[in-house]
Amino acid sequence: LTKKDMKGKKVLITAGPTVEPIDPVRNITNRSSGRMGYELARAFSYRGAEVTLISGPTNINPPYILKRFINVNTALEMKNEVMKYYKNSDIIVMSAAVSDYKVKNYSNKKIKKENENIILELDRNPDILKELGKIKKENQILIGFAAETNNLLNYAKRKLVEKNCDLIIANDVSKKEIGFDSNLNEIDIINKMGDVTHVKKSSKRDIAFRIIDYIANNYSG
Ligand code: C5P
Repeated sequence: LTKKDMKGKKVLITAGPTVEPIDPVRNITNRSSGRMGYELARAFSYRGAEVTLISGPTNINPPYILKRFINVNTALEMKNEVMKYYKNSDIIVMSAAVSDYKVKNYSNKKIKKENENIILELDRNPDILKELGKIKKENQILIGFAAETNNLLNYAKRKLVEKNCDLIIANDVSKKEIGFDSNLNEIDIINKMGDVTHVKKSSKRDIAFRIIDYIANNYSG
């Protein structure tokens, strides 16, 4: 029987990719499947938490035990929804692969094949996690993800400091068999002291429960 050690906790999770439109038929997105975030949403719910999942487009059905499920497309839409729900949350997990850039001039007509070259100008999107890091309350646990192809732990530690997170979940997306598009993952959990806890290769479902175990063991109240 699953222990209900997250009972009474409100958890906000972002998952999946975001999609930035170029014109009515084209967009910019990324390879995030959303699986890690959905498994976390499911596992937190099983452990008794009230989970709000804010997701970009994925092929996964949202777990039926969620408190709330919100679909978004763009990073700006995701930010707006996060800002509605973060205040009430005890634990905030930002596992979405948010597009760093959006198209500067969206074309409301399909762009025609007329020139040999075209230049697509991009503007920075807001960094949702970083903004939460600036406004979060002392008693809220803010968790970010770091998907890197090299120098994983160094970049992850830097992210933790820059974005004022309590924990960073680091995974190496250069390894073919784990991470993006896979049911498997292998992670390191890094805390504010810089302590690194390795979670060995396992299903994303299992990894989700290990992350919750870590939170349950290291944060009380
Ligand atoms: O800086 P980078 O995108 O690599 O950091 C990854 C972490 O930041 C993830 O937790 C991701 O959900 C979050 N993020 C965000 N908003 C962005 C970019 C990243 O919340 N615009």
